[in-house]
Amino acid sequence: MTCDGAAEPPPASPRLPFDFPRPDPMTDQTPDVATPVPNYDGPRRILSGIQASGALHLGNYLGALKRFVELQDQGAPVYVFVADMHAITVWQDPAKLTAQTREIAAAYLASGLDPEKAIIFPQSAVRAHAELAWIFNCVARLGWLDRMTQFKEKSGKHKERSSVGLYTYPVLQAADILLYKATEVPVGEDQKQHLELTRDIAAKFNNDFGVPGFFPVPEPIIQGPATRVMSLRDGAAKMSKSDPSDNSRINLTDDADTIASKIKKAKTDPEPLPETLDGLNERPEAKNLVAIYAALAGLTREQVIAQFGGQGFGAFKPALADLAVSSLAPVTAEMRRLMDDPAEIDRVLKAGAERAAEGADPVVDEVKKIVGFWRA
Ligand code: AMP
Ligand code: TRP
Repeated sequence: MTCDGAAEPPPASPRLPFDFPRPDPMTDQTPDVATPVPNYDGPRRILSGIQASGALHLGNYLGALKRFVELQDQGAPVYVFVADMHAITVWQDPAKLTAQTREIAAAYLASGLDPEKAIIFPQSAVRAHAELAWIFNCVARLGWLDRMTQFKEKSGKHKERSSVGLYTYPVLQAADILLYKATEVPVGEDQKQHLELTRDIAAKFNNDFGVPGFFPVPEPIIQGPATRVMSLRDGAAKMSKSDPSDNSRINLTDDADTIASKIKKAKTDPEPLPETLDGLNERPEAKNLVAIYAALAGLTREQVIAQFGGQGFGAFKPALADLAVSSLAPVTAEMRRLMDDPAEIDRVLKAGAERAAEGADPVVDEVKKIVGFWRA
């Protein structure tokens, strides 16, 4: 205000970091990002993460781990991290969290990720994740987060008792992805909505700050026959570590006998397997077992039906049990070996964190400049 009370003219806009025409700022509203312009022209980069919150199961292996390994050999840089900051959005015993972090890292290595090719690191070891997440908290809109179904499921009837972190969880996920300007994110089906939010945040940031193409609008990679592995006890529920029945899932730490017995006990129906894929439509449990077989064997579901159509579960279940045991045994054995050698895991995580920070720090520095934060 001037001394006579009249408002001073607004200061001239500071020079934008890039010379693009700035759209009308409507930054407290949702811009039209339904069809974001994919005008990013940086290199291809692949990124994903798994929470450090206890035992991994067959759903994580087929929906995520196995996919990361397939993508690692395509030549683009692959960033894979242990999401320990996401894990603490629900209570984690501090005495166990470090071991859980090492366990996920062991699973990455045991599944075939090669630390020479993939950058494997703990999320919390790269400070830029937290810094970018805060800025994105100021870009994302409450209305966007209010739509997130995972928060609704996880907070249940007691939303007011959930951590604020659980609510803003997908914003941290967007920071994880965009910090490395990742263009492709392999995940299971349950992460689709979080990827959509990431795309909206990227587009809104680029739009609000007048920096088109600064962040890529990343693509979710949700592919293969097992993007949503279902519970072995209920074909309508997702295989999940939070299911109270251990028979509902195959854990990556289960031994061969346990795996075989869980498959034998898996819920099915009395019909033989159909001759065509359509015949699985109203049979969720049979459909799930066929998808698991296909994913483990590297076949399509059609090929599995061509092989087993007309046969009963008395023949199919033992074949599936043999396949599951022979595919998972080397992974679980290598995981156990690595868990007995925490120093080896720590070497990988430390080197990975350093490489990850080299990529992330310049991006977050540039974001701070774009936002207008003070810099010496
Ligand atoms: P989380 O353990 O929730 O951190 O999940 C790690 C990864 O595994 C994510 O990419 C999930 O989408 C994927 N995932 C988790 N459960 C399943 C499932 N039942 N089927 C397929 N993918 C899954
Ligand atoms: N939210 C993911 C899950 O529960 C884990 C995750 C955190 C992630 N950050 C990510 C996955 C970034 C892909 C990209 O599965």
